[in-house]
Amino acid sequence: MHGLVKRFGATLALDGVALEARAGEVLALVGENGAGKSTLMKVLAGALEPDAGRMELDGAPYAPRSPLEARERGVAMIHQELALAPHLSVAENVLLGAEPQRIGLVDWRSLHERAHAALTQLGRGELDVRRRVGDLAPAERQLVEIARAVAFEARVVVLDEPTSSLGREDVARLAELLVRLRERGAAVIYISHVMEEIFAFAQRYCVLRDGRSVASGTCADSSPRELVAAMVGREVAQLTPRPAQQGAAPAGEVIARLNSLRGQRLPREATLELRRGEVLGIAGLVGAGRTELLRALMGLERVVSGELRVLELSGARAPHERWEQGVGMLSEDRKSEGLALGLSIAANLGLPHLERFARAGRFDAGALERSAAEWIERVRVKCAGPRQPIGELSGGNQQKVALARLLAADVDIALLDEPTRGVDVAAKAEIYALIDRFARRGERQRAVLVVSSYLPELLGLCDRIAVMERGVLHPARAAAELDERTLLAQATGGGA
Ligand SMILES: Nc1ncnc2c1ncn2[C@@H]1O[C@H](COP(=O)(O)OP(=O)(O)OP(=O)(O)O)[C@@H](O)[C@H]1O
Ligand SMILES: [Mg+2]
Repeated sequence: MHGLVKRFGATLALDGVALEARAGEVLALVGENGAGKSTLMKVLAGALEPDAGRMELDGAPYAPRSPLEARERGVAMIHQELALAPHLSVAENVLLGAEPQRIGLVDWRSLHERAHAALTQLGRGELDVRRRVGDLAPAERQLVEIARAVAFEARVVVLDEPTSSLGREDVARLAELLVRLRERGAAVIYISHVMEEIFAFAQRYCVLRDGRSVASGTCADSSPRELVAAMVGREVAQLTPRPAQQGAAPAGEVIARLNSLRGQRLPREATLELRRGEVLGIAGLVGAGRTELLRALMGLERVVSGELRVLELSGARAPHERWEQGVGMLSEDRKSEGLALGLSIAANLGLPHLERFARAGRFDAGALERSAAEWIERVRVKCAGPRQPIGELSGGNQQKVALARLLAADVDIALLDEPTRGVDVAAKAEIYALIDRFARRGERQRAVLVVSSYLPELLGLCDRIAVMERGVLHPARAAAELDERTLLAQATGGGA
């Protein structure tokens, strides 16, 4: 890619980017939220047309006018939000648009064989090609998308934050898939904010900053620190949260209490006390029931038995009652329950409490925008201004707005499900500081319950951590007494 330029109105998303991907290697594409990574890859995959610049593929000019044309030339993109047809089978999805035919009808046997062959090449022939994609786990869906790239003999495979909804074992299996793709001679371009993954999976890296390629090289000759410095344009002292925050304020009264709580399916058994002034972490594997626990507290999941008491109200409550009581939740899925993508940043930040922006009985749009501008500054949202629709922001910046909305709502209890998913390294540190201030400082102490799959995050941010293992919540322990190995052992049922 040479000198690529892409504008969105006043935003210059790509400012003359150059990039080189080589056959048989994984290239990590890194950069802060809003640096232009997804935009650049959409240009490569034919989903966006550049304003200027040119591309070459295997030495020949390459200017796809649609994703289909890109695919025909051998460029496949696995999206941040997967794009599969849920009602169709695995085989149909793998060969979508190129179903083998016989006398004008789909040749099912050949369809199944070819899909199975693609999966086998990836070492995953055990997946039943007749299963409906809608019934698959996230990691399996991703496998289907990658199998599709293999079936189309893709020369270039782009993965945009592929591990953000995967558990630890699935990440390891994805690493194997990347090796298979490389061995087949594909050039893999891998976007991620997780330094551990970048250095484990990629041979080379390219850093984007403000729509420009500012650094590139081989991973073996670089370090996470160097990469982050190139991303943000300065030295960053601390990459992981500072454990020194723990115990900064003594924990106060019990604000929520669960006793042998049991949900419809999950959790199976949860006992917990949450205190004012503390950040309590919930570790565990994907699917262990951590999200269901938060949802039960928020009134979004049915409670079958056990005691549930939040502030002065006991028993299961409707979500709006919880909200009025001062309980807020950041869901792990921005799309389904999170943000109104068509509305502005200001509207999204203000919606939960529009009454605050009334003056003399009339709605004051200016006050709403000023408040939004403050939050944009505080969590460093990269955007054109408070009026920009949320849908135009990069993935990580949408996540920052979602978190800001909850903190701005001034709740007493914040339930956070994977709060830094998709957020870049530097912004993560800022979010930790915000959560710290929210819970432990301020005029009154508040409480945070945070679910995260990133163990260094929990260890650095939380006062106490409890592990959820197959629906059962283990007693919380002081974070200072824990480490990654102990937490993992407990999460996988290997004992404390
Ligand atoms: N459709 C659009 N309309 C307006 N602006 C857009 C649009 N798509 C992207 N942008 C802007 O282009 C810039 C680059 O966005 P992009 O999504 O490429 O970032 P990114 O590097 O992928 O970030 P992240 O790590 O958060 O995913 C951002 O400022 C974003 O707001
Ligand atoms: Mg992106």
